[in-house]
Amino acid sequence: MKIYAHRGCSGTYPENTIVAFKAAAQLPIHGVEFDVHLTKDGELVVIHDESINRTSNGQGFVKDLTLKELKAYDYGKWFSPNFKGETIPTLREALYVYKDTHHHINIELKSDIFPYEGMEQKVLEMLKVYRLEDRVVISSFNHEMIQHVKKLAPHIETAILFMEVMIAPHEYAKMVSADALHAFFPTALRKMGKEIIESGSQLRVFTVNEKPYADMLQVAGVHAIFTDFPEKMYNHLNK
Ligand code: G3P
Ligand code: MG
Repeated sequence: MKIYAHRGCSGTYPENTIVAFKAAAQLPIHGVEFDVHLTKDGELVVIHDESINRTSNGQGFVKDLTLKELKAYDYGKWFSPNFKGETIPTLREALYVYKDTHHHINIELKSDIFPYEGMEQKVLEMLKVYRLEDRVVISSFNHEMIQHVKKLAPHIETAILFMEVMIAPHEYAKMVSADALHAFFPTALRKMGKEIIESGSQLRVFTVNEKPYADMLQVAGVHAIFTDFPEKMYNHLNK
């Protein structure tokens, strides 16, 4: 079972920062996941929430602030004083960390609350310029955007994110033209998880931080997990 560092090594470093991505880049794990939003001036930035309130010393929605304004705040101190000085990464800066590594990169488009029109085109352009098209999977809870990504770039792997226990989600994924399914932890252990695996689709599960849960998913045949503690999980699963 493969391991993705969720928001970088977010259990031990401030989530979605360069220091968390560099820590993940040092590990012999399969990949990394991070979340992307669009700024007021149309720049792609890496942060989980729609606002910067929780993970910085600033306030406001990403969509209402320019990149320059967003960069003025600190995104490390809230986690620990040791990480004072971390800024919000642009997508370009996050990708740069992985330019010479083997890691598979899961870019999650956080366009389910605010629509961020044109975001998918901007991401695709950047992946082309950096020649990363065959090393990424683009996912979202906004399945309209995933369908559009596939239309614009059929060669790029896509995934639908979902929280619920669904009926035949692999059939639904086909309808969306998504390649993989990224399911919420406990739901992946239901019948639908087995059906997804039997259908031949990739099933990746978030967010798995407890070793016994990872063991259950491994037994179930899940292909990959997203975890905040990738080093701990790697040591556990490879012992
Ligand atoms: O992409 C997997 C996982 O990150 C989805 O949930 O809220 O942590 O972005 P969230
Ligand atoms: Mg995410």
